[in-house]
Amino acid sequence: MKTYAIVGLGHRARMYLGALLGAHRADGRLVGLCDSNAGRLADAAAVARASGVAPGCYGAERFDAMLADTRPDRVIVTVPDYLHAPYIVRAMQAGCDVITEKPLTVDPAGAAAILAAQRATGRSLIVGFNYRYSPVRTLFKQVLMSGIIGHVKGANFEWLLDTHHGADYFRRWHRRKANSGGLFVHKATHHFDLLNWWLGSVPKRVTALGGRVFYRPEMGDALGLEDRGERCAGCPAFGRCGFRLDVAGSAHLTALYADPEAHDGYWRDACVFSGDIDIEDRMNAMIEYENGVVANYALTAFNPCEGYRVVFDGTRGRAELRNVERRAVNGDGSLVVPAAAEEDVIVVQPQFGRQYVLRLPQTKGLHGGGDAVMLARLFGPASNDEYGHVADERAGAWSAMVGMAANASLASGGAVALAGLVDEVPRPDYAAAPFGPEAVWRDFDAARYPFLEGAEVL
Ligand SMILES: NC(=O)c1ccc[n+]([C@@H]2O[C@H](COP(=O)([O-])OP(=O)(O)OC[C@H]3O[C@@H](n4cnc5c(N)ncnc54)[C@H](O)[C@@H]3O)[C@@H](O)[C@H]2O)c1
Repeated sequence: MKTYAIVGLGHRARMYLGALLGAHRADGRLVGLCDSNAGRLADAAAVARASGVAPGCYGAERFDAMLADTRPDRVIVTVPDYLHAPYIVRAMQAGCDVITEKPLTVDPAGAAAILAAQRATGRSLIVGFNYRYSPVRTLFKQVLMSGIIGHVKGANFEWLLDTHHGADYFRRWHRRKANSGGLFVHKATHHFDLLNWWLGSVPKRVTALGGRVFYRPEMGDALGLEDRGERCAGCPAFGRCGFRLDVAGSAHLTALYADPEAHDGYWRDACVFSGDIDIEDRMNAMIEYENGVVANYALTAFNPCEGYRVVFDGTRGRAELRNVERRAVNGDGSLVVPAAAEEDVIVVQPQFGRQYVLRLPQTKGLHGGGDAVMLARLFGPASNDEYGHVADERAGAWSAMVGMAANASLASGGAVALAGLVDEVPRPDYAAAPFGPEAVWRDFDAARYPFLEGAEVL
């Protein structure tokens, strides 16, 4: 059984903690916990103890001591993005394998340091790209790999974040580009990784546009919130603001953030209309791939609803995946309860043929059902990784570099080549054959494509 330590014990760490104390208790043993905030460290330790597990507890300054004392096989890195690189490097240099949250890192220097440490130590590094693991996105990969739409030549990918989820990035540490790389790195790394993995290729060049057009002081004023404070707690405009976060009204948020605030002064509920924010909320990028695909990408963070749409145009047809994750947000910023079922539809349109609509069963759990599948893959017994779900430092670097290039393009106003960002990044081994065999295709035979079985025909 492998042993684990976790560094960074906030929101995301709770998923790994819960897995090691619960569903994957028999697969891994938690030996160490580390955080710069003594309150969150104590809270995570109490959660572990309540499950009969007593890991060693260490402040941030004693991270190396934790590795020396507890000798974990694997370190799980769930600190804010700008701290991934130093912790990943130190863990690998101490002889540990690493599972890190996305993004791999926020800048070229971080990526270069991680790749160099991996080369020097030979340790394994897994990036938790949970989005890949969701059943619907895996099915979409299967559609592309089948060759049913031939070789993909073009892509359009639009991702909408609603005012519940999207607004949250403007309240937290993410709101500063130095911490998160902005949403082009922090959030879009998921989407760029999906594109790279679906297409089985790596990007060459990125041209981007973007700006902060909504989460601005002027918008707060325009919404009649001129008397707002710098945070939701105690804000005079609280009752009138559709973007408020009620930390005190949530036992979970109070334990995770409000109580530990006394230790480091970190606010979980900073105002989304503050002048301190320096990340974009509307972003567009044009991405050119080595295999000739050109992808259009768009991300907005102030939508009334949440979901995405991705379309691939191939030499034999077109495939589209549409997702509606949430249809609406309440006027007080909270989620509609009970939530409407998430909707996923894949439309396959072969050339000269009829259209197939694949309506997908509701996937349970967070991130399109991806989290649970990923945890089973990370902690459970080894099995054949048929679709290449497990991502390492190479995939982590290639997706984060798209965001870094997009940021550089925002600054320069021109196209930015990925090759110039980080030296010699090895190609990831995405699933062996991204697309099916190219043949002269005359007669479409639906029986060759198992995923079409039971599909609705329009
Ligand atoms: N894959 C996903 O879907 C997903 C979802 C949420 C978050 N994440 C990722 O998880 C990571 C953590 O995000 P979060 O939402 O949990 O943030 P968070 O703010 O809730 O937690 C971060 C934790 O790191 C601790 N920390 C800060 N500085 C530290 C230091 N120097 N040393 C040790 N600990 C330190 C904080 O005290 C806090 O406990 C980020 O990289 C984020 O991108 C991924």
